Amino acid sequence: MALTGKVAIVTGGSLGIGAGIVRRLAREGAAVALDYHTHSGDADAIADELKAQGAKVLVVQADVSQVASVQNLVAQTVTAFGRLDILVNNAGIEEPTPFLDVTEASFDRQIAVDLKGAYFAAQAAARQMHNQGGGGCIINISSVHEELPMVGNAVYCAAKGGLRMLTRTLATELAKDGIRIVNIGPGAVATPINAATLNDPQRKQALLAEIPLGRIGEPTDIANLVAWLASDEASYITGTTIFVDGGLMVYAGSL
Ligand code: BGC
Repeated sequence: MALTGKVAIVTGGSLGIGAGIVRRLAREGAAVALDYHTHSGDADAIADELKAQGAKVLVVQADVSQVASVQNLVAQTVTAFGRLDILVNNAGIEEPTPFLDVTEASFDRQIAVDLKGAYFAAQAAARQMHNQGGGGCIINISSVHEELPMVGNAVYCAAKGGLRMLTRTLATELAKDGIRIVNIGPGAVATPINAATLNDPQRKQALLAEIPLGRIGEPTDIANLVAWLASDEASYITGTTIFVDGGLMVYAGSL
């Protein structure tokens, strides 16, 4: 097991990609703090499932858009498990809306979760890693849309674009502490965030036509990479993005 003795936090760990990451990190031997916002039933069910397999799992409620809440998440994790080695900033929302109709409230909500949340969770985690010594790893679940425009989703794209530069900047600032920071850019993954598209046969077909590998991704496709990036095998990787998208980013469509 690649992560035995390590302690990880996964934000948004009760659903979708986050739930897949929690399961995979636990399977690799990490003690995992599973952060959820609203779905306490799902969070408890995953924790029970993993604890029955001998894993160490702590369920913590936090709203990543509130700085005090992410600081409390880190503090509770350290109280329970003694240290922090891995932070996975996975929590994210999107409210696709034509640009001309976006409201200030919707803008603030998305930026608060997708960008500010990752920023201050990284700060709280990096402070802990700096104080304890020995380095650490921060992985942001970004999106192909940190680079690829998406019509009608400008706030989400702006947040993910911000995450891209946050990662590049922090990688340089945190390297002296041995802290690596890496983005994963998923393409279309079967999770609640894009249920509306996946439940509409026409929209799903149009999306599939954009993916050279011809399938929608699964949370395990992302979780596999998280586990490897968090391991010592990835110790020379920082300040970059790895896309996991079935070829979506490089596909020129009908060309
Ligand atoms: C978005 C999904 C979208 C996918 C591919 C993701 O980041 O959350 O809604 O289907 O990118 O475009």
